[in-house]
Amino acid sequence: MKVAWNSRYDTGLRVIDDQHRELFAVVGRFRRLAQTGAARSEVETLLGELVACSERHFATEEAIMSQFAYPDLSQHVSEHITMLASLRELLVGFRESQQSTALLVPALMEGWLKHHVSDGDFGFVTFLKAHNLA
Ligand SMILES: [Fe+2]
Ligand SMILES: [Fe+2]
Repeated sequence: MKVAWNSRYDTGLRVIDDQHRELFAVVGRFRRLAQTGAARSEVETLLGELVACSERHFATEEAIMSQFAYPDLSQHVSEHITMLASLRELLVGFRESQQSTALLVPALMEGWLKHHVSDGDFGFVTFLKAHNLA
């Protein structure tokens, strides 16, 4: 499966779409690193970058949702928390084991695609648009 930006991920809210593109780009870089058998330290650095990028993105989404009193805020925040926890777990697991980098790819992809293909982010953008907030 390919991790690439696809127009079906476009929510129509610029700030969110730009961050999603950035996240997909990091996952794509990660995938290429894993395929070329990069040094573990390089993979670890990129994983750390993915965690940081995700934290920033989730904080942006949560600030927008809370600013406009999005009714499903807590549900969406809990999705973010779960996802960050699994990313951090991947990072820690990778540091502590001799786990192959290739094994990390499906887990990362699944996490990102699940969140963004699901109606999670579309739900709040649709809400904002319906209320003429975006
Ligand atoms: Fe989200
Ligand atoms: Fe998102």
